[in-house]
Amino acid sequence: MVQELTNQGKTAKSYDREAWKKGYESQRQESAYWLEESEIEGQIPPELEGTLFRNGPGLLDIGGTPIRHPFDGDGMICGISFQEGRAFVRNRFVRTEAFVEEQEAGKILYRGVFGTQKPGGWLQNIFDFRTKNIANTNVIYWGGKLLALWEAASPYRLDPKTLETHGLDDLNGILEPGEAFAAHPWVDPHCEMDGGEPCLVNFALKPGLSTTLRIYEIAPNGELRRKHDHSVPGFAFIHDFAITPNYCLFFQNPVQFNPIPFALGLKGAAECITFQPEQPTRAIIIPRKPPFTGVKTIEMPSGFVFHHGNAFEIEDGRVCVDSIAYADFPAVDDDISYKDVDFDALAPGQLWRFTFDLNQNTAESQLIEPRCCEFPTLHPDRVGRDYRYLFMGAAHNETGNAPLQGILKFDHETQERQFWTAAPEGYVSEPIFVPKSQGESEDAGWLLTLVYNSQHHRSDLVILDGEDLNRGAIARLHLRYHIPYGLHGSWTDKAFV
Ligand SMILES: [Fe+2]
Repeated sequence: MVQELTNQGKTAKSYDREAWKKGYESQRQESAYWLEESEIEGQIPPELEGTLFRNGPGLLDIGGTPIRHPFDGDGMICGISFQEGRAFVRNRFVRTEAFVEEQEAGKILYRGVFGTQKPGGWLQNIFDFRTKNIANTNVIYWGGKLLALWEAASPYRLDPKTLETHGLDDLNGILEPGEAFAAHPWVDPHCEMDGGEPCLVNFALKPGLSTTLRIYEIAPNGELRRKHDHSVPGFAFIHDFAITPNYCLFFQNPVQFNPIPFALGLKGAAECITFQPEQPTRAIIIPRKPPFTGVKTIEMPSGFVFHHGNAFEIEDGRVCVDSIAYADFPAVDDDISYKDVDFDALAPGQLWRFTFDLNQNTAESQLIEPRCCEFPTLHPDRVGRDYRYLFMGAAHNETGNAPLQGILKFDHETQERQFWTAAPEGYVSEPIFVPKSQGESEDAGWLLTLVYNSQHHRSDLVILDGEDLNRGAIARLHLRYHIPYGLHGSWTDKAFV
């Protein structure tokens, strides 16, 4: 049982801001090494075999000039392979075209979507609409390829063992030249249309006066199974989506985009997005099965969602989606660095269940977990199905917004929670659930999370037991360097050593 840290009756901070900030230092070192026994506390489960791939910004500056926001940081992949109780660690930057150019020049040559500008003021940035594909958001192994994803451009293909960059990849011709491929694919574990075979489902947004949502479904061998387009009125900022056997579900957040400050070189594109609290969020529910008609749009109260945990269909034409929702869009302030963000002034992300009645076109919402949380994950076999356990990164204290320092397990059946904390010196990343080879229950798996240890300024890979977080870290692998706070990653059963 974890108690809130208290100080004279008031909830005290579980973190030190100066310590937290150090997790945003650039990591220029690229390395590949087997961990020594002395670098492993506890024991790696011997049956754990495969590779955890993580992606996130590795550079928070270019040639010494800080970038405006971590989302503008060049993607660095970290791979940790497990075999026979040992671990092989490597990290390497994605050699995107822009990364190579900027590293050769030693300075910023491209504007970033989240506000990074070329030096020299607005005159150096005006009417420069080039986008820098930073390949920093997610990394997946699918169709025999390791792919670094960034939602506004095509993926980069990497060598899964060495992490060397092969170049842009069009997924065997599935993508048109330069076409986007979002950073939040789901794997339908048993696709009804493909005889129960797994299927990767992803989307791409094409902005314009109206937005085109393109959905791709791709077989394990990399072949395209289905592709269909849908037009959505107005501007859409959609980062993630959810799937069930019959539907893809998107939340169109209530935001407005004013491109003028971006065009004039005054702001990054994402800084020109403003939240519209008086406008509803729209759920767009698109059939996955041909002929893909009968799309539903259902309005619900205003809110902002980056990430969905899971979705599933229930009787009577209803669909549930569990999402991390915010009361508003955490806009980037012109004058304040992301490192000086006032957590206390920001609305926490909280777990909500949204239930849509597709016959009545109505939505209901229910707060499930008020603790500040992000990066939900679950047993891969339950994706799109009714499920019991959701795991998330979470703040240490039960109330307020704060950096993620713990892993929360939520049981939908009993409403019970388990919480493992790395506070005060540790800061967690997205947990990844790896099913145990021998295990019946839905929580029989290992949770892998990279934890930035601010005391030692390095990262640990922590392994927790999904069945009982109260066991604490089963193993803690001390990496030799820190990995800056990352975004998303995935697990594959191949070890690549
Ligand atoms: Fe994301």
